[in-house]
Amino acid sequence: MLEHKTNMNIPSFSLVRQNQLLKEKLTDCFLLLLDKGRFVLNENVSTFEKKISNYCTVNHGIGVANGSDALYLSLIACGIGQGDEVITTPFTFFATAGSIIRAGAKPTFVDIDNETWNIATELIEEKVTPNTKAILPVHLYGCPAKMDKILQIAKKYKLKVIEDAAQALGAKYQGQRVGSLGDLSCFSFFPTKNLGAFGDAGMVVTDNPDIAEKVSLLRVHGSKIKYHHDLLGCNSRLDELQAAILNMKLNYLEQWTQRRRKIAELYSNLFKKHISAGSLSIKLPQEPKYAYHVYHQYTIQTNQKNELQKYLKNKGIGTTVYYPVPLHLQKVISSYGYRKGDFPVTETACKEVLSLPMFPELTDKEVSYVVDRVVKFFQSSSK
Ligand SMILES: Cc1ncc(COP(=O)(O)O)c(C=O)c1O
Repeated sequence: MLEHKTNMNIPSFSLVRQNQLLKEKLTDCFLLLLDKGRFVLNENVSTFEKKISNYCTVNHGIGVANGSDALYLSLIACGIGQGDEVITTPFTFFATAGSIIRAGAKPTFVDIDNETWNIATELIEEKVTPNTKAILPVHLYGCPAKMDKILQIAKKYKLKVIEDAAQALGAKYQGQRVGSLGDLSCFSFFPTKNLGAFGDAGMVVTDNPDIAEKVSLLRVHGSKIKYHHDLLGCNSRLDELQAAILNMKLNYLEQWTQRRRKIAELYSNLFKKHISAGSLSIKLPQEPKYAYHVYHQYTIQTNQKNELQKYLKNKGIGTTVYYPVPLHLQKVISSYGYRKGDFPVTETACKEVLSLPMFPELTDKEVSYVVDRVVKFFQSSSK
């Protein structure tokens, strides 16, 4: 390992380098739109919808305003609402459960597995009731959930499967792209995602033409003919500027994914040397046999998370906790009667996970500096 004598400054995520590299192409996107003067749901959006649906090997893509709306409109399009239950994970961004509640349904949480932090599929079936209408797995941090088991339970109980693939564009489950596994799938193109816009953007993809039609109506207040409203939808249109930028950036996604995977490999190889020498005890992210991980995050787990985070901050290293509060213990969800202790694996993860810097422009030297400092923290704390 390299010895780093001086402090470096490494943010947990940054677009500065990427934007610098793409400056001319980004400027072209703005200028072309300025000339065209069409700002919402036009040709850039339909091109992007085709590109993403092709990429996910499905027939339909419907651009929407953000990933949260993608989830909400998917649930509504499946006819899910009052009195219904949707099975999901409590260890995810709030939007996953928030969308279920917005749709009028109840989020039924199932604890996660310790290996991938994704929904523990062996615990799903016991939570199915006559009111259950769907399973909403999340491919957390870019690692696909165990879809075989989920699809098998869904088939048995006639449930819809809605993938929350917000963090996992490009990830594969047994060689098949996420987005093509469930009945519908939802993506976010928030700037920090693996493919990020210059603001909010999202998409629903599906092979089902009826659901695709419904989502495309719901995003424009349920209207097919202007000022005639057949369904109660909302305004969730995708901007042309975001679509133009995303179309351009999509050309780089493969290269960025490869780089994320390389960075993850480098982190893990460097850490493993210390773990096998017995000088470091942290849990590293796993890539299960069935998975092609796209490392939206490189997340470690340690019971000294708070101290480590503080130490790294002093050494110039930014880190983030995704997510410090489990969804079943969020104030707004308290009326569903969940209690502390209901989902122990999730609750421990919330206390112990720490995401290290991860973005494609990170250099090998920076990765090795981060590892060096993590190792030093544990050396000093064991003295
Ligand atoms: C797992 C997950 N689901 C849903 C969302 C919601 O996406 P958005 O922020 O685009 O609304 C996000 C993004 O933050 C997410 O990470």
